[in-house]
Amino acid sequence: TDQVYILAIESSCDDTSAAVIHNGKMLSNVVANQKIHEAYGGVVPELASRAHQQNIVPVVHQALAKANIDKNQLSAIAFTRGPGLMGSLLVGTSFAKSLAMGLQIPLIEVHHMQAHILAHFIEEEGYEKPTFPFLAMTISGGHTQIVRVDDYFKMTVIGETTDDAVGEAFDKTAKILGLPYPGGPLVDKYAQEGNPKAFPFTKPKVPGLDFSFSGLKTAILYFVQKNKAANPTFIEENIADICASVQHTIIQILMDKLKLASKDTGIKQIAIGGGVSANSGIRNTLKEAEKKYGWKTYIPKFEYCTDNAGMIAIVGYLKYLNNDFTDASVSAKARYAI
Ligand code: KG4
Ligand code: ZN
Repeated sequence: TDQVYILAIESSCDDTSAAVIHNGKMLSNVVANQKIHEAYGGVVPELASRAHQQNIVPVVHQALAKANIDKNQLSAIAFTRGPGLMGSLLVGTSFAKSLAMGLQIPLIEVHHMQAHILAHFIEEEGYEKPTFPFLAMTISGGHTQIVRVDDYFKMTVIGETTDDAVGEAFDKTAKILGLPYPGGPLVDKYAQEGNPKAFPFTKPKVPGLDFSFSGLKTAILYFVQKNKAANPTFIEENIADICASVQHTIIQILMDKLKLASKDTGIKQIAIGGGVSANSGIRNTLKEAEKKYGWKTYIPKFEYCTDNAGMIAIVGYLKYLNNDFTDASVSAKARYAI
């Protein structure tokens, strides 16, 4: 068992992905993005599962080819069991089960949120891995959580959103401003040229370590509507300042909860993951927090932040070492607690 090759499959939302990992080192990580959802301004579940169905075979072939290995060399198949969109999960789950059965190798189920966190343990040149215990904040279009991580598979959710995910807050802001979906990266781009203090937005009052973003979205909508009524070109004239102000507010909301979590737990190792980790404002603020609060922060390569099978592969490898396998009776789980 000193040569462990795992093929991992991720299909929980709108990205079809396959990766091959060899003893903890990534050989390939192929992601097929589904462009189809752009026209609808959000992910359409039915279209997502159809696209997975079309993409999965070519994506798996590419992952094996890039890794330069034959399917008969595989030691196990890992797949995302949940949480996610049921129709999307079913494609990856069924494919993984069938392939494991065909190759007569073990099957490993992976929790998508655990994978976002354990992505920090992928072997990468020059990337220092966190040590236990650490706090992980997962921020994406589908999730916003703060998790206390005491060991690879000993995780406790200590805070999460009560409504929208932080990525949705970015995307809905972009939509209000007339920017295309997913607008988070565009808000980030405009924000870099704007004044973050130009338009103050109130932060929601949410007890403990939980988050809420739906109030902010409504506040932005009213703010824009009111100003547009007085000046029809208000958005065009102020887009950088609006984006900078919204982004600043979102970052403050995240940082307030992270600071509280760090204070409550006494943990100063802070890791982030999920697509919103790409945000330049968040990255800068976290870097500053290292000096300001004595934190050590961990931000993985962008490729491992957004949904990808590489993060599923590392969990597959860790579970393989623990002989933690599942049998073919396993089924996808749309709602799945850590
Ligand atoms: O992890 P991800 O690819 O997919 C899931 O939602 O699980 O995250 C996508 C989210 C979208 O909401 C997108 O707008 C946001 O991440 N995002 C960003 C940035 N890059 C991606 N949000 C703000 N600033 C960015 N630079
Ligand atoms: Zn995700």
